[in-house]
Amino acid sequence: MVGSSIAFLCASNSLDDIILLNRTKNKALGVALDISNAIPKNSDNTIHGTNDFSEIKNSDVVVITASTGIYLKNRNEIISSQVEMIKDIGKEIKRYCPSAKILIISNPIDVLTYFFQKETNFSRNNVLGIASSLDSSRFRYFLSKELRVKQTQISDALVLGEHGDSMIPIFSNAKINGKNVLETINSKQKEDITKQIQDYWKVLRNFKSRSQFGIAKNTYDIIESIIKNQTLSIPASILLEGEFDEKDVCMGVPIKITSQGKIEIQSVDFDKSEQELFKKSAQTIRNNIKSV
Ligand code: LAC
Repeated sequence: MVGSSIAFLCASNSLDDIILLNRTKNKALGVALDISNAIPKNSDNTIHGTNDFSEIKNSDVVVITASTGIYLKNRNEIISSQVEMIKDIGKEIKRYCPSAKILIISNPIDVLTYFFQKETNFSRNNVLGIASSLDSSRFRYFLSKELRVKQTQISDALVLGEHGDSMIPIFSNAKINGKNVLETINSKQKEDITKQIQDYWKVLRNFKSRSQFGIAKNTYDIIESIIKNQTLSIPASILLEGEFDEKDVCMGVPIKITSQGKIEIQSVDFDKSEQELFKKSAQTIRNNIKSV
C-alpha cells in the first residue's frame, strides 16, 4: 500500500519513469496498470510492474517498502525476517543500482537502514531511513491541535532518534509564531504530545490497517528534491560516524539534501534532557541491532 501510494504521487506529479517491483508479479502489474492512468497527458513518463530486479537497473532512486509480514504491538516484532529480507534486497540493489539514492521505509527502519548499509557498503550519504519526517509532521499536527493554531504558525518542530518508542520531539527548538513552544505549554502537555506522537501508528490501527498517505507524502517530497535537484531539510535516519557523539548506529537526525543531491547531516541544539534521551534512543537502536 505504501509503495503504491508513493508511486501514485510520483506518477501523478510527472516526476520520472517508475518501476514497481514486487515478489508477486501480478501485484506489481496490477498497480502499474492502475497508476498508468494517473500519468498526466503532458507527461511521457511510464510505469511498469515486475518481479525481476534486473529491471530496476541504473535507477536514480530506489524506495524500499517491502515487508515479510505484519507487526502488531511493536515495530521490532518481525526484526529477524526483515533484516534477512533487507540483506537480500541489498545484494540485488548493489548489483543493479550501485549509485542510486536508497530510501528505506520498511520497519524497523533504523535497524534496516543499518543492515542495508553494512550489506552494500554504499556511501552512508546515499542511504536514508524515512520516518522522522513523518514523526515530525505528527508533532506539528498535535501542537496545532493542542494550541489551536494553524500548522503554518508552527516551525522547527523536529522529532529525532529512533522511529519507535524512544523517539524524541525536540520541544526546545519548536516555535509557535516564532516563540519557543515551551513558553506556552506545560510539562503535562509536553508529556501527552510526546506519547501521542509515539503511539500515533497504534491509534491509526484502530481505524485502518496501517499508515500509508503520511509516509507516502513524506517520502515523495524527498524523491522530488532528488529528481528535481531542489534542496530539502528534513530529519531522517542515517549512519552516524561521530556526529552527535554517536557512531555505528542509524537514527533520525536533521539532514539537508542539496541541489546537487548531496546529503549532509545538520546540527541541532538539544537541551540537557533531550541530549540524554537522544543517547538512550541510540542505545535502544544498538540493542535492537545486537538482538538480530
Ligand atoms: C508509522 C509507520 C510508517 O509510524 O512506522 O506509521
